[in-house]
Amino acid sequence: MSKRDLYELLNQMTLPEKVAQLTQLATPFFKGSSKQGEITGPMAAMQITDEDIPNIGSVLGASGAEEIRSIQKQHLAESRLGIPLLFMSDVVHGFKTIFPIPLAIGCSWNPALAEESARVAAKESAVSGIHVTFAPMVDLVRDPRWGRVMETTGEDPYLNGVFAKAQVRGFQGDHLKESKEHVAACVKHFAAYGAAEGGRDYNTVNMSDRQLQEMYLPAYKAALDEDCKMVMSSFNIVDGIPATANQTLMNGLLRGDWDFDGVMISDWGAVKELIPHGVAADKKDAARKALSAGTDIEMMTDCYASHLEELVAEGVIDEQTIDQSVLRILQLKEELGLFENPYRGADPVQEEQIIMSAPHREAAKQLAIESSVLLKNDQTLPLQKSQKVALIGPFADNGDILGQWSWQGSKEDAITLRQGLVNKLQEEPLLAVGSDISEINATSLEQALTVAQQADVLIVALGEHSTMSGEAGSLTNIQLPQAQLDLLQSLAELDKPIVSILFNGRPLDLHGVIEHSHAIIEAWFPGTEGGNALADLLYGDENFSGKLTMSFPNSVGQIPVYYNHYNTGRPKGAPDAQVRYVSQYLDSPNGPLFPFGFGLSYTTFAYQEPVLSTDQLTSDRTLNLTVKVKNTGNWTGTETVQLYLRDLVGEVVRPVKELKDFKQVKLLPGEEQEIHFTLTEEQLRYYHSDMSYSSDPGDFEVLVGPNSQETVNTFFTLI
Ligand code: GLC
Repeated sequence: MSKRDLYELLNQMTLPEKVAQLTQLATPFFKGSSKQGEITGPMAAMQITDEDIPNIGSVLGASGAEEIRSIQKQHLAESRLGIPLLFMSDVVHGFKTIFPIPLAIGCSWNPALAEESARVAAKESAVSGIHVTFAPMVDLVRDPRWGRVMETTGEDPYLNGVFAKAQVRGFQGDHLKESKEHVAACVKHFAAYGAAEGGRDYNTVNMSDRQLQEMYLPAYKAALDEDCKMVMSSFNIVDGIPATANQTLMNGLLRGDWDFDGVMISDWGAVKELIPHGVAADKKDAARKALSAGTDIEMMTDCYASHLEELVAEGVIDEQTIDQSVLRILQLKEELGLFENPYRGADPVQEEQIIMSAPHREAAKQLAIESSVLLKNDQTLPLQKSQKVALIGPFADNGDILGQWSWQGSKEDAITLRQGLVNKLQEEPLLAVGSDISEINATSLEQALTVAQQADVLIVALGEHSTMSGEAGSLTNIQLPQAQLDLLQSLAELDKPIVSILFNGRPLDLHGVIEHSHAIIEAWFPGTEGGNALADLLYGDENFSGKLTMSFPNSVGQIPVYYNHYNTGRPKGAPDAQVRYVSQYLDSPNGPLFPFGFGLSYTTFAYQEPVLSTDQLTSDRTLNLTVKVKNTGNWTGTETVQLYLRDLVGEVVRPVKELKDFKQVKLLPGEEQEIHFTLTEEQLRYYHSDMSYSSDPGDFEVLVGPNSQETVNTFFTLI
């Protein structure tokens, strides 16, 4: 359909039909649905009549080719103008084949593999009838108390942007209209949802415009620069105004400065939540404010459906404002080819063949391998097949390893750690649960100790239930539950080698684990192939390459702790620093337990001093940096060489370092390679006191290394 055709269709629509296009409801409201569907928020009582349903514009949470074809068919039969429904769902890190959670995917530092995971997710969801996925979630995070850190790729704006682009590419492909294997992406949650005070979900966000621009906005912009089709507003306020009704953020920045003219959808109920936020007196006021700010679709509440016609009749809302939103939605349906084929990729026969295929599971396994992070290893790993292994803990044989946003994923399909070991060893390991997630008793402990005494090495599988993170999963205590710490401590008294494997959705305070473990693997929620991936890593058939993208604090009292912090006027450890009167805690280090970019390997790598092509950079000439990296161990390994920059004197304070680039290199034992980076003036730009974005002449430090703390440095000058 041409733009002209869309205008003609719009002109045929009545005002009630236009208003109904702006509402999204979950599947139970629709004829032909199985009444299941994904309910991921509070179900409000809504004044939506059966007469409204044939004109509703989009459906939330449907899946299954049969069901979606049935809903679409019934809808088209009753829709006066035959405008097809859009089907949107949360396919965040896999559809049926579940990949590791995004916080794990970030630790792979492998955007190509992240793109592949999104492509697989798109292929499985498209054949199941889905048109739009509510992903990528790119909210920058610094507070592991917030349960949704599991959904994002971490604390760095540049890296989050790299992964945002990769996921959009994977979901959307290059020819969305023609492709039956891709879906439209919806970047979320715009904006700065991850900065909720106290890490408490849905809580207030309060920050300077500079912080917002410098840290929290870049990844959304990166997704839109990759032609992401939709944006979802966040529940929180931005500078005192809820994002969903924030003119400055939406019409000003998103649709103005960023020139985004795609569809903006509210997060669940966020339009009606303008009332408890205290910026709307009632649903009518909420409808006026949200639509005027540029929120096109109201998800799961009925402010638009109940009041937009009235607001137009009163002359408060101009019908052209509604037309603008409707046209964006019709345009998206056009870009998905729905007017030509309302059933798009929904194919029950193909569905059987595509979903959970061997190549898809292989991709999930590879990403689980590259997302796992080796935090500690005193040479206990890799294991030898001759060693007798006891597998103990609540995650020893537990399919709850998919994460809270795995929706269509099935725990029954997940390869547990035990199954992974059996697949590898062709025999059952000694096994005892020892404790539940948060309960332990004398009997279960005794059984675990009895089993442990028969083994040469203990694999202790610990972690969080998947509902302890994710949406509405905030915690004030980020240590493992005491029952699990007690189990580990009791096992440690047997004085046998202990490999602790963590299945969790957030950085944890690992006190109580690190003291008793000879090796620690951060497995996150590794997805459908988790057990097989971990078995390969445990026995050295695969080597670790994962590196943290979110700092692990020493304690919750330290939060927020992140690598790209400012130096302050009294930095601890400065050459002339006082002992007491510096920025420090009396009872804790300032830095994290494990820093951003950290991850061990079975081998070791040595870095030479970096060499610059020149020590002067200009705006029209790049500067090349070369650093030699050598594999100094006995294992082939992949190293992620990270490059950080520091602006030594800014017009405003500047972070002590900022990730600007990274390269992965695979090295054989003893092999050395030169890694090359190109530095540009663009990488030195920042927001000045007047919020202009530019670079300043001056001195800069380059820091290169395996993580954000261990680096080799050199200097150059921008002239
Ligand atoms: C939820 C989440 C959002 C999700 C939406 C639809 O409340 O905040 O991430 O996409 O509702 O399920």
